[in-house]
Amino acid sequence: MTTLADAWGINPAQFWLRGVRPEQPVQHDETTGMWNVYGYPEILQALSDPATFSSHTQRLVPETSDGLFTEGNLVQMDPPEHQKLRKLVSHAFTPKVVADLEPRITELTHELLDAVSDRTELVADLAYPLPVIVIAELLGVPSSDRGLFKKWVDAMFASSNQFSLKERTPEQEAYLQQALEQVRQLADYLGEHVAERRRHPREDLLTKLVQAEVDGAQLRDPEVVNFGMVLLIAGHITTTMLLGNTVLCLDAHPEQMAKVRADRSLVPSAIEESLRFFSPFAAVSRATNREVELGGQRIGADELVLLWVAAANRDPRQFENPDVFDVTRQPNSQIAFGRGIHFCLGAPLARLEGRVALNILLDRFPNLRTDPGDGPEFLPSPTMTGVRRLPLLL
Ligand code: HEM
Repeated sequence: MTTLADAWGINPAQFWLRGVRPEQPVQHDETTGMWNVYGYPEILQALSDPATFSSHTQRLVPETSDGLFTEGNLVQMDPPEHQKLRKLVSHAFTPKVVADLEPRITELTHELLDAVSDRTELVADLAYPLPVIVIAELLGVPSSDRGLFKKWVDAMFASSNQFSLKERTPEQEAYLQQALEQVRQLADYLGEHVAERRRHPREDLLTKLVQAEVDGAQLRDPEVVNFGMVLLIAGHITTTMLLGNTVLCLDAHPEQMAKVRADRSLVPSAIEESLRFFSPFAAVSRATNREVELGGQRIGADELVLLWVAAANRDPRQFENPDVFDVTRQPNSQIAFGRGIHFCLGAPLARLEGRVALNILLDRFPNLRTDPGDGPEFLPSPTMTGVRRLPLLL
């Protein structure tokens, strides 16, 4: 049977999208030297035990970071430092700050869609610019620089090769070096803005981060820069995928599209189902601090472990008929935003952007559909699942 993943040319490594179940929920990969965890309960076990499964994975592959992008990078931090920083940034990036963005997200979506006529490439016209403009405006950097962000971030995620702990080929090495160069340029760019906010505070998130204080502690410049970088990277590439994937899933399942059109209160659960069915960040990584048993396997200390949340979201032990896209799925305990202390800080923003944009698309285009002569294109990376091009007829 040809699955949607085959028809759309999604990276063949993502077998869970093709109705295939892993032989075991936890497996060692001889080629990359890493452990792969595919099972839902096994991933929950790892995510709920940060003392064993550390987020500081860069310590196992120090040459991939060059010391850049460590301080203030929440994603790489463990308790107790993680908790301190998360508290500080949560102070600036509150649910109210996010909820207050709804009118602006609505206005921007309309503005972007006003520019299209009878056809659109959804990613270029809406799914990419919307979240980038929102996060840039929130941080307080000029959204007109988004061409630059795109250049930097695209170059970081361009490779279709699985990352490996084994010796790198010259091609992989060259890719890594150019990706690091992009990180450096983005850090320099944000560094200038942060220094400027120290001198001249404004009404923006960068200023709030510079001024945030919890228990007498404040963030230092590199921490603000790196946190800003996490927001800018995580803040656009993933929501872009979420929006594109949701439209594509609904289009591929006309009866589900009809349900959502008939009852808009289903929009939030359609978004949850899209996150489960095509999880944008397919994997998160951890480094073991000690030997541990997981899913019947003994994993040694100092091993790199990939937790494939996208595969867990298709685990039949957790989800009935996991390969069926069902916008009314209840309950839907998808873990596309992770779980536990590192649960995605941007989840409320991603959900809000998804809900607003999908509702407006459905309002404005009653005949919205994919172009039979020009199919979608997916990102080549094995750890991401998301459209990078989605032509639609309106
Ligand atoms: C963390 C996914 C959107 C900011 C995470 C994690 C996942 C994730 C899986 C956990 C990483 C781990 O456990 O190692 C997603 C998906 C998104 C999305 C699927 C959209 C569909 C966003 C947005 C922002 C954001 C819009 C910010 C504007 C963050 C941050 C963290 C994070 C700061 C780190 C939290 C921590 O380590 O404590 N995200 N994300 N994300 N995400 Fe998102």
